[in-house]
Amino acid sequence: MASFLPKGPLQTIERHILEQQKFYPEATGTLTGLLYDLALAGKIISSHIQRAGLAEILGATGDENVQGEEVQKLDEFAQRTIYRLNDHTGRLACMGSEEEPDIIPIPERFPQGKYVLLFDPLDGSSNIDSNVSVGTIFSIYRRVTTAGPGTLEDVLQAGSQIVAAGYIIYGSSTMLVYSTGYGVHGFTLDPMIGEFLLSHPDIRIPEKPKYYSVNQSNEIYWSDGVQRFTRYVQGMDNGFKGLSARYIGSMVADFHRNLLQGGIFYYPADLKDPKKPSGKLRLLYECAPLAFVAENAGGYASDGRQRILDIQPQALHQRVPLFIGNRSLVAKAEEFIRTYDHA
Ligand code: AHG
Ligand code: MN
Ligand code: MN
Repeated sequence: MASFLPKGPLQTIERHILEQQKFYPEATGTLTGLLYDLALAGKIISSHIQRAGLAEILGATGDENVQGEEVQKLDEFAQRTIYRLNDHTGRLACMGSEEEPDIIPIPERFPQGKYVLLFDPLDGSSNIDSNVSVGTIFSIYRRVTTAGPGTLEDVLQAGSQIVAAGYIIYGSSTMLVYSTGYGVHGFTLDPMIGEFLLSHPDIRIPEKPKYYSVNQSNEIYWSDGVQRFTRYVQGMDNGFKGLSARYIGSMVADFHRNLLQGGIFYYPADLKDPKKPSGKLRLLYECAPLAFVAENAGGYASDGRQRILDIQPQALHQRVPLFIGNRSLVAKAEEFIRTYDHA
């Protein structure tokens, strides 16, 4: 198999991350090292996922995670990989994962660092058995406490405090997309040489949206405002040319497509399901990191009433409704909710 190399200047993710460091004159290289290790985690998880069908590691372990969902073996593998790459480096004060009920401390024998890493090790994992794209979502914050082991306070920060965030998508190819607040950049893994190469520099969400992405089977449980907004995106209102529907059920993949093609992804509150009064997606592990990416690509993310990045989290596994994608569409969703739904 020939190695695929993009046209134009070749840049590895390592060089790119290092070059981004120049935007931070006070940088010590710690964040750079942390991002390198996340890229390495992506390579390890990617190679494992590609062997999934062969290695009899498909299927569930039979355990339930803190969200009451079935834990897949690959979820565990991704969780362990990210943890093992980061527990001993002295860069982190603690971690938090969608798969763990509490904050994950750094073992006492290792130095405590100044950053906090939050992640969803494998998003969309219920799709693994069907060979559908899954992803890893991550975000990095500066700790707010000054010394000792990291605490809940270090983890419960608004998304506006994010230093860097991104995702790795394990799809027809593996890509890493990240931002440190200076644009959004995408890298494609060349499996032959084991490097992420810059393939999508400075991603901007196209102005003209193409898709709306939502699990419409839940529509009867949505508020009046969300139902009317859905009619709007379908083109049944005000002469707006309707969008086409695309829904994978794997948020990283749905988000990634809409980031490149233009559109909106939403997971609204479910008014009748007592398990989903705030939708399904987790503020800290899924919504805030992708909101940071969306905004840095010229898009926007809201819970329907306020900017996702302004929400002060109250709990580690807090869920919020999410509307994310083209700014004009997300603002339109807010307008419908403001007009038709009374808080
Ligand atoms: P996870 O696999 O990390 O639990 O997250 C799955 C999420 C997200 O990826 C996706 O958008 C959503 O669940 C799909 O939910 P529905 O099946 O309710 O549409
Ligand atoms: Mn998830
Ligand atoms: Mn997950």
